[in-house]
Amino acid sequence: MPTIVSTPTEWRSLRKSLAGRSVGFVPTMGNLHEGHIDLCRRARAENDIVVASIFVNPTQFNQASDFEKYARTLEADKKLLAGAGVDYLFHPDAKDMYPDDYSIKVGEEEIAKELEGAFRPGHFTGMLTVVMKLLNIIGAERAYFGEKDFQQLLLVKKMVAALFMPVEIIACPTVRAQNGLALSSRNARLTPEQLEKAPLLAELLQSGMSDAAVMKKLEEAGFKPEYVDTRWGRRLAAAWLGDVRLIDNVPAVNGGAAQNAAGQHNEVCHAAVSGCG
Ligand code: PAJ
Repeated sequence: MPTIVSTPTEWRSLRKSLAGRSVGFVPTMGNLHEGHIDLCRRARAENDIVVASIFVNPTQFNQASDFEKYARTLEADKKLLAGAGVDYLFHPDAKDMYPDDYSIKVGEEEIAKELEGAFRPGHFTGMLTVVMKLLNIIGAERAYFGEKDFQQLLLVKKMVAALFMPVEIIACPTVRAQNGLALSSRNARLTPEQLEKAPLLAELLQSGMSDAAVMKKLEEAGFKPEYVDTRWGRRLAAAWLGDVRLIDNVPAVNGGAAQNAAGQHNEVCHAAVSGCG
């Protein structure tokens, strides 16, 4: 089992005793699945010491009910981490992570306003703030993030470059079920019927259809899509199935067929924008 470390101070003194050994870090919110474990395995292969964190970060949830409903499965998580060869589990309390009561924040003004940022106000500021704290505490050489949360990955890379943080951000491909559904902690909340429908999201994103056509097909299938959009060389979408919000993204056909020569988007389709679908 990984050794549990509960406070930043405890980890800091431990980190000193590990001087000279490379540390790979996998930040998570727990309720772990094969997607998280894949990141841990990659970290295991590339570093002397592997640290994972489990912290359900209150500041990145824009709905209190989503924060409360987030599954906490520490005992099962510890077993999965042990199986992936993780050495330490950093599992702090909110009071230790936010001694300032969240009066200090890290924000971004461009990417963070789009897509996920537009539909989840405050989410990326909460996420960047906690990732900055975690990276500062752990002092890893490398930190591992999934492409599943593509905008998050872009923002973390941008923050690390902008603030000269001494850590390499490693991007890991999305792990999917055999039917194509991207693994997510939220999938466990889907009913059997919704679980059968959910892979359509990935299937449509990978199709040659336009963003608007994908949006329409999702609506016809009973999803409530928020956006389908092509940018950053990816096609990205968010859609509700019942009360579960799914996000996914895939490489864009031709690296972004919906972008014109100037790199601007000629096809943006949001639920909030009339005329889509
Ligand atoms: P969480 O949703 O637990 O995800 C932790 C990491 O696992 C993220 O880097 C995410 O992109 C990656 N991940 C999730 N599902 C994946 C999949 N199917 N394939 C590959 N990687 C996957 O993302 C967060 O937590 C938080 O925002 C966090 C970064 C921990 C900050 O609180």
